[in-house]
Amino acid sequence: MIIIAGSASPKLAARVATQLKCPLLKPELKHFPDGELYVRLDTKLEGKDVAIVQSTSQPQNDNLIELFLMLDAAKDLGARHVTAAVPYLTSLWQDKRFKPGEATSVHTICKLIEHAGADDFLTVDMHNDGVIQNFSIPTYNLTAIPLLGQYLAKLKLQDPIILGIDKGLLERVRRVAVELKADYDYLEKRRAPPKKTTIQPKHLDVAKRDVVLVDDIISTGSTIIEATRILRRQRAHKIYAACTHPVLAGDALQKILKVDVQAVIATDTIEHRTSVVSVAPLIAGAIHQGF
Ligand code: R5P
Repeated sequence: MIIIAGSASPKLAARVATQLKCPLLKPELKHFPDGELYVRLDTKLEGKDVAIVQSTSQPQNDNLIELFLMLDAAKDLGARHVTAAVPYLTSLWQDKRFKPGEATSVHTICKLIEHAGADDFLTVDMHNDGVIQNFSIPTYNLTAIPLLGQYLAKLKLQDPIILGIDKGLLERVRRVAVELKADYDYLEKRRAPPKKTTIQPKHLDVAKRDVVLVDDIISTGSTIIEATRILRRQRAHKIYAACTHPVLAGDALQKILKVDVQAVIATDTIEHRTSVVSVAPLIAGAIHQGF
């Protein structure tokens, strides 16, 4: 097995290679004067099993093209089996045609990954796991949720509550809570006449308790910021935000910390300063077991 490190996931790829005790290949990457990408995989791949680790976070288009070129080159150079390990897959937002004429981007991207040469595909905590149906190759959607829970368990939180941003996150929140032996709940919008809407935990009182807000992605931070403001009014003690994918566009992290969130705890599916939990054991484990 050879692990190939895409430029969006150098640290994660190195961690996966270390876990699997196998060679790590850093491709030669440069740009022609007009900006076109050049990729070279300078090692013998003939007959080898290869896993290409490359997130498709910002800049999405560049990272996607790099992924396609690496997949195609690996296959063309004779690799026996090529795994596309894409811990964060972009185009989550355009997973169906909302208006007539729209491109269904995620469908296109899945097709291109497959046609570029992937024999199988793995990802982590896919926002909409129905997306996986776009592939006809074997696919696996791993979850980092227990790893986040294990990290949080070490923080020795005060009478913690694990809170999902919405009901859809309840199962993920439950799995985090299991690791901390903590209570869990989710935030619910309620109509409060006349014409007002309030948001609050469905069942539990957060007063004087540490709260961990869980989401799969933090992008602009608006969801976490709104929830934090509400929980402050409900006298929560310390508030943490945990997610698998720290998209954290622009100054999202600064805005989140400004409303007094203690910390954002995220994984290295996107390499960021908040990536304190590595998904390398998940990816290495899946590769080792042949999914
Ligand atoms: C939405 O469905 C996701 O689970 C997240 O809640 C969302 O992506 C967060 O976005 P933002 O950080 O921009 O509020």
